[in-house]
Amino acid sequence: MSARVGIHDLAVATAGHVLELDLLAESAGIDPAKYRVGLGQEQMSVPGPDEDVVTMGAAAAQRIIERHGADGIRTLFFATESGVDQSKSAGVFVHRLLGLPATCRVVELKQACYSATAALQAAADMVARRPDERVLVVASDIARYDLDSAAEATQGAGAVAMLVTADPAIAELESAIGISTADVDDFFRPNDSATAVVDGKLSIGAYLDGMIGAWDDYRAHGGVDVSEIDRFCHHQPFTKMAVKAHRRLADHTGVPLGAELMAASTGYNRRIGNSYTASLYFALAALLDSDDDLAGRRVGMFSYGSGSVSEFFALRVCDDYRTHTRGEETEALLAARTPVDVPRYRALHTAAAELNSRVDVAVEPGVDAPFHFAGIAGRARQYRRA
Ligand code: HMG
Repeated sequence: MSARVGIHDLAVATAGHVLELDLLAESAGIDPAKYRVGLGQEQMSVPGPDEDVVTMGAAAAQRIIERHGADGIRTLFFATESGVDQSKSAGVFVHRLLGLPATCRVVELKQACYSATAALQAAADMVARRPDERVLVVASDIARYDLDSAAEATQGAGAVAMLVTADPAIAELESAIGISTADVDDFFRPNDSATAVVDGKLSIGAYLDGMIGAWDDYRAHGGVDVSEIDRFCHHQPFTKMAVKAHRRLADHTGVPLGAELMAASTGYNRRIGNSYTASLYFALAALLDSDDDLAGRRVGMFSYGSGSVSEFFALRVCDDYRTHTRGEETEALLAARTPVDVPRYRALHTAAAELNSRVDVAVEPGVDAPFHFAGIAGRARQYRRA
């Protein structure tokens, strides 16, 4: 990539309710330390009936449009694995809700948690060819597993929107990329299921194998030595997974990699839970918002999507990135979530699966958010601005 291309702005959104995992542990008779320490998770965002990947994605992207306008945005990539339709891109709803021009193409990408990274790379290549264009990348997901399953504490919800441009203000994408793809049934969601099917132990092993495969391919394709990487963001289905990944990379390379090189990246995901495609970019947002010594530093990014596709790449943080971080905005979003108890969380979880099978149903606005899922009319999903 000859031109400087990368992330010019980044904005996040999450669901309107929050469950303290201590409450979930107590209700299941589990030691709360298993979730806090064993998984590295404190809370999870819980969507209401009027929220889905479209409403969260639109809420995140709206901040980008408010700050930069829509001029030059000719592509919107919507990355998700909890899409709302088998044919129509969730991004087309976002396109209308944000009033984007008709001259903006919209595509949805799917490969478990990985597809936002594919979108980011494709966006960067597009901008490298046409530097006057800007690409909006939206990653939005709701992680739902069965109630009372081992995976229940690793649910969550959130969206990250990124504006990819030439001469970016936050971080430049480096050209070296490492990839590793393997057909594995560690995690998937059949078409008729509202919740994912997961083999937890297999998925942890597949994630770590994918990381090593992607790392070796990164090195074989011009990637720098691990000692030249200053910070790390690893995909965070739960934040302890990123700690395991970091240790495995240190073992594999034989270079001691202190926990402090990745610790700041876990701050948001500990409180949101798994947001699948958005998770890695919540990690990047947390790092940028809480580490004020990143100017000129290289950040190693590991993206994993079950099934599985893995990618390792690197960003170079721009000198004045501090003027473009959004820590206060994100803290306010997290603090504004309505706390729910376990019975209310369970009712919301059950209602979500039931809603999707309806032909006609009206959904009243429930949470304080800029966009709402308003129901289904003749099987077509309806969305409104607040
Ligand atoms: P589990 O089997 O109930 O948990 O489910 P466990 O018994 O393995 O315990 C978890 C950790 O807590 C262990 O730590 C325990 O020792 C510890 P570790 O040995 O692994 O370091 N622990 C305690 N710590 C302190 N005090 C205690 C205590 N008790 C236990 N009292 C599992 C855990 C993650 C498997 C489950 O939640 C699950 O299946 N989650 C979903 C799958 C998942 O997140 N996989 C991650 C890799 S795959 C991935 O990242 C892709 C994904 O994002 C999807 C996509 O790509 O689209 C999921």
